[in-house]
Amino acid sequence: MTEAILLVGGKGTRLRPLTVNTPKPMVPAAGVPFLTHQLARARAAGVEHIVMATSYLAEVFEPYFGDGSAFGLHLEYVTEREPLGTGGAIRNVSSRLRSGPEDPVLVFNGDILTGLDIRALVAAHASSGADVSLHLTRVTDPRAYGLVPTDDTGRVLAFLEKPGSPEEIVTDQINAGAYVFRRSVIDSIPEGRPVSVERETFPGLLAAGAHLQGMVDSTYWLDLGTPEAFVRGSADLVLGRAPSPAVPGRCGDRLVLPSARVAPGAKLSGGTVVGERALIGAGARLSGSAVLCDAVVEPGAVVTDSLIGEGARVGARTVVTGAVIGDGASVGADNELLAGVRIWCNASLPAGAVRFSPDR
Ligand code: GTP
Repeated sequence: MTEAILLVGGKGTRLRPLTVNTPKPMVPAAGVPFLTHQLARARAAGVEHIVMATSYLAEVFEPYFGDGSAFGLHLEYVTEREPLGTGGAIRNVSSRLRSGPEDPVLVFNGDILTGLDIRALVAAHASSGADVSLHLTRVTDPRAYGLVPTDDTGRVLAFLEKPGSPEEIVTDQINAGAYVFRRSVIDSIPEGRPVSVERETFPGLLAAGAHLQGMVDSTYWLDLGTPEAFVRGSADLVLGRAPSPAVPGRCGDRLVLPSARVAPGAKLSGGTVVGERALIGAGARLSGSAVLCDAVVEPGAVVTDSLIGEGARVGARTVVTGAVIGDGASVGADNELLAGVRIWCNASLPAGAVRFSPDR
């Protein structure tokens, strides 16, 4: 039975203010902490033992997931005293692994939403005999990513930093954040200091002649590292475009958790989720958005592609598009919040304070 390491210790700076009170993997997507989807997918692929490598806000994981038995898993938690980076985190949990030196160990970034065929990655790892196998995905604009060119058998040729010029875009394949390591390779990562698996371990292994194998899998893939992507990912889970056995309800245009209240005449669409005890007022229109627990959207508000944090309030007739409203923030009536604006946790905006369009 293959076991897995989940990397969940990052600070999630790009996702602030969502990650001020909550580590990125615990921010709810489609009504449950994002990590729930990853655990459910790993379980469905036959993984039973998962070690979580925690650092930032480490204390919140165990109270929620416990020993994992409720999820059919055996979960363990290891917290770094200082953040050790992705490679250091993998090395740091190695004493908890049960696999033998030649056995495969799965490693997942804790912020990737994907339909990856996990069993196929493990099978490809076994058949190629690689030291490390990597899930690669193709993106239309590779400029923001490290590139991973392979030969025609899938063997990795190089790890290239973010390309600076068009000539440097030699492939559209990028590291998709899921790996299979031969156990002994994990034990060869230096101990007790920060190590980046992407920048140090993988290029180092390649330079030393190790066999790194890429498997391109072009199913659904999204890095939930930014607010726009996170909101998109949550909506895709609700819509059923991103596969997860952990969506708490039937997939469709909307998902309203049982204790939420939606007034008659409110319209929810595009994969909008309304979390526990949240309230949606009459005539409000929400599309492609995530309303976290205990939040309130007042009558006539229009919320599109946005995330409304825990206990936050959006005033009557306020327009929120492509925005993040932090936990506990209060936005008064008749505001217009557009285009990537981030309202910090517990901030308070008076009625009519922010407008993009001229006065009506
Ligand atoms: P940003 O700060 O927004 O870049 O996000 P991040 O901190 O999550 O970093 P990044 O997206 O590069 O991390 C990839 C994965 O590795 C995520 O699942 C992180 O939780 C995890 N990760 C990053 N750094 C560490 C670390 O020092 N320790 C542990 N345990 N996990 C980490």
